[in-house]
Amino acid sequence: MNNRPIGIFDSGVGGTSIWKEINGLLSNEDTIYLADSKNAPYGEKSEEQILQLSIKNTEFLLAKDCKLIVVACNTATTNAISYLRENYDVPFIGIEPAIKPAALQSQSKKVGVLATKGTLSSSLFHYTSKNHASGIQIIEQEGTGLVKLIEAGMANSAMSKRVLEIKLAPMLAAEIDYLVLGCTHYPYLIPVLREMLPENVKIIDSGEAVARQTKSVLEQNGLSNPSEGKGKHHFFTNADVRILESFLKGEKSNVKTAFLDF
Ligand code: SIN
Repeated sequence: MNNRPIGIFDSGVGGTSIWKEINGLLSNEDTIYLADSKNAPYGEKSEEQILQLSIKNTEFLLAKDCKLIVVACNTATTNAISYLRENYDVPFIGIEPAIKPAALQSQSKKVGVLATKGTLSSSLFHYTSKNHASGIQIIEQEGTGLVKLIEAGMANSAMSKRVLEIKLAPMLAAEIDYLVLGCTHYPYLIPVLREMLPENVKIIDSGEAVARQTKSVLEQNGLSNPSEGKGKHHFFTNADVRILESFLKGEKSNVKTAFLDF
């Protein structure tokens, strides 16, 4: 049945940046979003812990009859998506840092990547940097602390700015002209980043590309919803519902949130 929902999970509220892109492009599709905020940040967990949490999130969404799952978390993608694809019978869309487009467009041939420890240390990240950015100097920085600040609704705070100053310093010293946001939470830092970065530095994230990929995988698998009405959206969180709701401001119509006790 093609009117089944698209499932989306993240370690917390960051994946709502991806949900907004998907809902923008595929507004007729129903969605179910799971924010595992209680276990955020994933980026500082072991590969095995990230895998187990990703399995639990996947099974929650499959129990709700999702037809496709978007792993809206870079850390879960890099550490768990191969396992999920091998073990479950629905298509999975993952999020990878947009290194390839940044490398292709960089004039200075110097690209900054801000991502979690779990993403930067994964073999998928190393493979992508090696294969899609040859001849490019990649300046990697772990964004430790940033996910917690964003989950606490403090993306636009003096504390975030202080953390970012430290993370950006080596990138600015190297004269990057592209900054890749390798975590779905980080687009919520863009207003602060824009104040801190020189105008010539472009910020790139994966949201739009993921929405396009979701559309094309639905089409390829005959899973697109033929209905032209507006989709219905359910959001589940295992933390304070008000935090998740604050990231959905302006999206209230057709959106329901619920507390989830796991
Ligand atoms: C995290 O939970 O540490 C961040 C999620 C991500 O990598 O997108």
